Amino acid sequence: MNTLSIFAPAKLNLCLAVTGRRADGFHDLLSVVSQLDFGDTLRVEPAAEFSLTCDDPAVPADETNLVLKAARAFAAAAGWRGGAKFVLTKRIPAGAGLGGGSSDAVAALRGLNQLAGAPLDAVGLAQVAAGLGSDCPLFLEPGPVVMRGRGERIAPLPPEAAGRVRGRRVLVFKPAFGIATPWAYARLAATAPVGYQPAVEAEARLAAWIAEAAAPVENLLFNNMEPPAFAKFLALPALLAELRVRFGLHPRMSGSGSACFALLGAETDAAPITTAVRAAWGASAFVTEARLT
Ligand code: C5P
Repeated sequence: MNTLSIFAPAKLNLCLAVTGRRADGFHDLLSVVSQLDFGDTLRVEPAAEFSLTCDDPAVPADETNLVLKAARAFAAAAGWRGGAKFVLTKRIPAGAGLGGGSSDAVAALRGLNQLAGAPLDAVGLAQVAAGLGSDCPLFLEPGPVVMRGRGERIAPLPPEAAGRVRGRRVLVFKPAFGIATPWAYARLAATAPVGYQPAVEAEARLAAWIAEAAAPVENLLFNNMEPPAFAKFLALPALLAELRVRFGLHPRMSGSGSACFALLGAETDAAPITTAVRAAWGASAFVTEARLT
């Protein structure tokens, strides 16, 4: 049986500078993105046709799911006539800014390319991934990346800087509500031009952090999608302020939210922080500890 089991990691935007709106309606951005050792699992089994089942009934398992969209796009790009049964074990919450759907889609691409005998090379996979969503291409790279354009221009973070990222402990937490990415970008666009960070500034900030050997990841953290999201979802800034004051953390929102994260020291006890998150956001809040990879 050549059934494959593929890990689909979550991601965090350690910094996210949305730098302006493009003629095609998307936004240009500069982001440093790290994957996590926490994520979904996608099983890919050869079958006559494409099908998808998911253990989470809240996740649509129909053709709107990015896994099936990825499968159709792969078959078209590779001229492949096979099929596959996908079984998705979902752990990454939706509407979180953690890249769950995008990562599942890339896991499907990887799995199918393996099943089909690798008809697509890295460039071919990247092209299909970019067509599926702005956050897909980053998942084709193994480590922390710098993301540009609308998300399709991916470069590995230089090795010394990547070494400062990898292995860091992080607490990831999300309130019961999610934030729709198009809504978040539209709110940001409504504040234009003040909400955008000029690309030259964003690039200079990133270059300075990379050049400063041993500068901690904490110095890199930034997200200019926070102000429009925080203006509506007051529970987010309220908790983040509390975590700053009580625990000396530097919490941030990931991507377009609503998940937030805080880097932890090697010895930091995550239990009281988790208790504070649940006290503020309720028992239905999602909380997990993970490591940046
Ligand atoms: O590419 P993806 O499907 O993830 O994008 C979802 C929505 O987020 C887009 O329709 C757009 O409104 C917004 N977006 C954007 N600029 C990006 C990525 C996403 O405006 N770079």
